[in-house]
Amino acid sequence: MPSLSKSMEKLEVESAFIVLDKARELERQGKEIVHFEIGQPDFPTPKHIIEAAKKALDEGKTGYTPAAGIYELREAVAEYISESRGVDVKPKEVVITVGAKMGIFASLIAFLDPGDEVVIPSPTYPAYEGVTKFVGGVPVTVKLREERGFSPSGEEIASAVTDKTKAIVINTPGNPTGGVYSREDIEAIYEVAKKRDIVVISDEIYEHIIFDGKKHVSALSIGDKEHTVLLGGFSKSWSMTGWRLGWVIAPEKVADKVAKVQLNSASCPASFVQYAAIAALKGPWDDVWKMVKEYEARRNLIYEEVNSIPGFSMIKPAATFYAFPNVSKLGVKSSKLADMLLNEAGVALLPGTSFGAEGEGYLRISFATSRENIKKGMKRIRDFVKEKFS
Ligand SMILES: Cc1ncc(COP(=O)(O)O)c(C=O)c1O
Repeated sequence: MPSLSKSMEKLEVESAFIVLDKARELERQGKEIVHFEIGQPDFPTPKHIIEAAKKALDEGKTGYTPAAGIYELREAVAEYISESRGVDVKPKEVVITVGAKMGIFASLIAFLDPGDEVVIPSPTYPAYEGVTKFVGGVPVTVKLREERGFSPSGEEIASAVTDKTKAIVINTPGNPTGGVYSREDIEAIYEVAKKRDIVVISDEIYEHIIFDGKKHVSALSIGDKEHTVLLGGFSKSWSMTGWRLGWVIAPEKVADKVAKVQLNSASCPASFVQYAAIAALKGPWDDVWKMVKEYEARRNLIYEEVNSIPGFSMIKPAATFYAFPNVSKLGVKSSKLADMLLNEAGVALLPGTSFGAEGEGYLRISFATSRENIKKGMKRIRDFVKEKFS
């Protein structure tokens, strides 16, 4: 067999899936594991969406669709984005993608040439850095700081920008930190982006999972359309991870390129799934808000639990279903601690370094699991830490 491509060496595997594999192996050996590793809602997809998918199947909506998605869904997303962002978005500026992940992939490919730099506030979702490297770009990370609620400093972003910077990728609300970017910080990012003609790629997939009555602040409401690519999707808010459906909002000439990347890889998202997604957007939204309410209760619980563990500390996550405790006081590398917790305490979670080197000293705990599980897992962690570290 001939040798594999050099670019394959740059593609990484999301560590949540590696940890899940390890945990499953331990389970096969008879161990009982509490799962905090995967960022996936533990609720069923709302019923009316499932019904809409069944109806679409019965009606024979089973063929290829246009690469950018069916017009009716592009129209529904355009309406939703226009209304929620207060900006006029046309269906031609919407591409329906195979998950938000395809949106990340396609939009970075659409902009980057080898050597182009991408500024990425980090720790963050690893695909931004991975795809940037894969296409020959250079990720330039800027540390997100706990004391700023994990919102990036405009000054630090500005000083990371060079003549080679093509894009700034932001993620608010953020995985793995649970932080939301402040309006002022997003404004500061656009100040640089507009002056230097840089695109802001804003991943807002957690836009609805936000707590304490806070309202999501979208890049598209602050910046101009010309410098913005907005990413979002159905996976998290509607508990539809396996349906693989997301969206990209971008100026028409960019949207065309994103659709072209999708055409050359997946062709299009699954047809009947797109019809079901119209039902998700049209509502009712009650199930979404019920899930968010439950995440908020879990967030409150885990906040108390984490702060009762010696050596752990955490600011209250403002959004998402991730807790991101600071464990640097324990004086052990995050990856080592995560391994110990899996093998010795039976708790699967991720080291902060799964989200970039800036995540050292942190763990990511997904609380997309029942309160009962949260209590059980946190007790195991507390008992383990007390035994090993005091
Ligand atoms: C920030 C962020 N963006 C995108 C994705 C991928 O979403 P999708 O399942 O729609 O591809 C995830 C999934 O964990 C995520 O955390």
